[in-house]
Amino acid sequence: MKKTRLCNLLGIQYPIIQGGMLWLADARLAAAVSSTGALGILSPYAGMDKSGDPLKNLKLQIDRIKDLTDKPFGVNIPLDLRQSGILIDIIIKKNVGIIITAAGNPANYTPLLKLEGIKVLHVASSVRQTVKAESCKVDAVIVEGVEAAGHIGFDELPLFSLIPQAADAVSIPVVAAGGIVDERGVAAAMALGAEGVQMGTRFVAVDECIASQNYKDAIVKAEDTGTVVTSRKLLPTRNLKTAFAKKLLELENKNASADKIREFIGYRRSPDAQLDGKLDQGEVFSGSSVGLIKEVVPVSGVIEKIVKGYKDVIGKL
Ligand SMILES: Cc1cc2nc3c(=O)[nH]c(=O)nc-3n(C[C@H](O)[C@H](O)[C@H](O)COP(=O)(O)O)c2cc1C
Repeated sequence: MKKTRLCNLLGIQYPIIQGGMLWLADARLAAAVSSTGALGILSPYAGMDKSGDPLKNLKLQIDRIKDLTDKPFGVNIPLDLRQSGILIDIIIKKNVGIIITAAGNPANYTPLLKLEGIKVLHVASSVRQTVKAESCKVDAVIVEGVEAAGHIGFDELPLFSLIPQAADAVSIPVVAAGGIVDERGVAAAMALGAEGVQMGTRFVAVDECIASQNYKDAIVKAEDTGTVVTSRKLLPTRNLKTAFAKKLLELENKNASADKIREFIGYRRSPDAQLDGKLDQGEVFSGSSVGLIKEVVPVSGVIEKIVKGYKDVIGKL
């Protein structure tokens, strides 16, 4: 694959990022991704007990990934986490070179992070947010479309519309996220003006991910209509269409209060579902291209298929 500005910025061979996944993106997964020449990302809750301490855990996962690979890696910090400031302090003290911030205002920490020499990428879901991120001096922006797993923007913009409009609006590299699982998605994103991609769901259904077997099996089984957007009034979220997601939609359709919905979703329920396999007990995030994922494979298989297949896709065009 052709090297893009993103590759030079991050010191990676392939412009592919494994997205942050709060409870799932631990050192083993991120190291497996980084070792291929793509970029692995750690998440602060991944690899710890449900009642664990994310501050201790992040330190441990950073030490662990440094033992597992000498390739570049990054850390994802959703800025709406209560301890985001302390987590960022850990990233600085541990000399992490790359951070992906999301779900918050990039003005808050970008100046400090840049001063420390850290490369900053920020997740945006509209052109307005993309322009704002650039004005805060982030190094690259990740535009996330409505197709993405997990929390999506309120504007619900499809990635095909978002990428070229965002790429026209800024001069920093734009990375595309949402519904990309194979070489065709990567080529399409690049054709629209992206200089890299970020994938989440594809990296759940891999051998190295700590997601429960039930979660992985549900991804493999799901078809094109297998996901649904819930919590539209609170925090729009793309989930697998499980019994839990259907109950959540019912509540929303009955105009339940934000507190009721929050209580139903429950803070510690998503790890019950994602890690312990109780899929009817909590949210299980998935992107809308889930129907393309047919088997659980090693991380290396995902990257090799994209790198080889990308040439063929471009050749055919
Ligand atoms: C299980 C799971 C957890 C996620 N958690 C986070 C998170 O903590 N922070 C974040 O910025 N994005 C999170 N995401 C979004 C991914 O980083 C990525 O942008 C998204 O999955 C891309 O869409 P795709 O799944 O269709 O590839 C999560 C995605 C999944 C599947």
